[in-house]
Amino acid sequence: MRILLLFGLVAVALADVTRFDGEQVLRLKPIFDEHVTLIKDLAQSIEIDFWSPESAELVTIDIDVDIRVPALYQDMVHTMLLQSNIQHEVLIDDLQAAVEDQADNKASPRTHSYTKYNSWDKVQSWIASISSSNPSLISRQVIGKTYEGRSMTLLKLGKKSSSAKPAIFMDCGIHAREWISPAFCQWFVKEALSTYGKDSQMTSLLDQMDVYVLPVFNIDGYDYTHKSNRMWRKTRSRRSGSSCVGADPNRNWNAGWCTIGASSSPCSDTFCGYKPESEIEVKNVADFIRRNKSAIKAYITIHSYSQLLLFPYSYTYDLAAHHSELLKIAQGASAALRRLYGTRYTSGPGAATIYPAAGGSDDWAYDLGVKYSFTFELRDTGRYGFLLPESQIKPTCEETMLAVKYIAAYVQKNL
Ligand code: ARG
Ligand code: ZN
Repeated sequence: MRILLLFGLVAVALADVTRFDGEQVLRLKPIFDEHVTLIKDLAQSIEIDFWSPESAELVTIDIDVDIRVPALYQDMVHTMLLQSNIQHEVLIDDLQAAVEDQADNKASPRTHSYTKYNSWDKVQSWIASISSSNPSLISRQVIGKTYEGRSMTLLKLGKKSSSAKPAIFMDCGIHAREWISPAFCQWFVKEALSTYGKDSQMTSLLDQMDVYVLPVFNIDGYDYTHKSNRMWRKTRSRRSGSSCVGADPNRNWNAGWCTIGASSSPCSDTFCGYKPESEIEVKNVADFIRRNKSAIKAYITIHSYSQLLLFPYSYTYDLAAHHSELLKIAQGASAALRRLYGTRYTSGPGAATIYPAAGGSDDWAYDLGVKYSFTFELRDTGRYGFLLPESQIKPTCEETMLAVKYIAAYVQKNL
């Protein structure tokens, strides 16, 4: 016993956990081209973590630029901002404290909770128990393994039927640090099961359609954010020739791959990968959707943060063939979401609404023929960013349910 304990302590001490002492998250407001150039130059010379937009290449005038600045460069960056008259504010003053504060009560429960950010181990056992507890409404299947060998388990919600049913596919946790996203997928599954037979819309949805839910897409990355580096975004794949790890799983799809808003440098946070679907997680999901192409009528992917409801395209400014219909749905869904707590969402095509960025799952699904393809960027708008407090999980999930159900109802009506 004592030896085990000692071993445990040593293991914790040896585990390399990235700390963020003295780091700040700043919001810059570039209003002139020179400001944009300065920010890009800065990103060239020092290591800056772009929270929004996701990389220096995506910075333009008149957008908010949220960046995490290493402690070492804090003074230098502040001096530079003052000298160049770039308007800015401090979003998070002490990032390490913010990371530690994210969990509302310090004693983390041993069990899974819908109002906490669950570790992968907890999500995994939750997947097993929820699917075996409700065999008439939910089943699971493994669609492949992650780079590090974890099983990617897909849940299928819906009343069993002898004939093929149309389906909606939803994934969470493409990006590792966006913790509110997997929390939403778990919440959705719970709500679906507990309101089936009570809520008329949910009942009719699951009677008529199947909803596939992938609770955590980028499991390796998600696990890494819990154990080693809270700010990790990408996958955890390695390749000889580069010491940098991972690719951006939302730049790795075969949709205008790596043409714009993505980086071909393996060290970038928006690295598009070595080829489309080079990331095994992307390939597994793409293979599943291709195999079930005729059934899948809608694709929904959940990210954070910014409070946006986006639809194709992001790899081009060209409007999608179904632009006005998609816009109408996104606006209706945003209005439904807002009715609960007043949370405001912006909706529109990705490229024009935020920035062009190719290789995303929404554009890929749309071009494959899944007409109703949407990307959610959940709360907030930057006060906490990726470190959204656990106290906001419930309201965020409740309001997002309304938007997802709005989309589902529309899809169902238009089968
Ligand atoms: N913030 C998301 C990302 O950069 C937005 C995704 C929008 N869709 C897209 N295909 N870029 O991944
Ligand atoms: Zn994301």
